Amino acid sequence: MKKKILNTLKLSFPSRSANEALARSIAAAFVSQLDPTMEELCDVKTAVSEAVTNAVVHAYPDRVGTIEMTLRLLEGGEIDISVRDKGRGIENIDLARTPTYTTGGADRSGMGFTIMESFMGYLRVLSTPGRGTSVRMRKKLGHE
Ligand SMILES: Nc1ncnc2c1ncn2[C@@H]1O[C@H](COP(=O)(O)OP(=O)(O)OP(=O)(O)O)[C@@H](O)[C@H]1O
Ligand SMILES: [Mg+2]
Repeated sequence: MKKKILNTLKLSFPSRSANEALARSIAAAFVSQLDPTMEELCDVKTAVSEAVTNAVVHAYPDRVGTIEMTLRLLEGGEIDISVRDKGRGIENIDLARTPTYTTGGADRSGMGFTIMESFMGYLRVLSTPGRGTSVRMRKKLGHE
């Protein structure tokens, strides 16, 4: 069954590194309506930061492109976050999601997707080479 959407925030911003911190703070502010624990808030901020950094660094390596982030609050205390770009795209998604795999050279540890998945619990990556990438994360907040 599809979960009802209780609240939504969509934003679109240029792939400048200053916007990584901005996206992270906006996601944290949005998630605050669920009264999260510090740990949950930290997890969401880190996951958003990884996803947006990937779009800045990998999707648009030599130009400034557009990044779209959509935040959704679903019934049952679940948060749904999507980060999309129209950049370079990913040739082999399974390989890209493998821990320590990176095309970024020595500066990168290749742990971004692994962190997103473990901190959020659910990660879906869709991509078309030359057309862009869509990263979708979900996390159930709250303590039963
Ligand atoms: N939005 C994107 N567009 C194009 N390629 C991407 C995108 N996101 C990830 N990738 C590819 O997937 C690889 C793995 O990404 P991941 O975030 O796991 O590691 P990383 O960014 O290389 O290193 P780290 O995140 O640890 O700094 C990247 O090296 C890159 O090749
Ligand atoms: Mg990364």
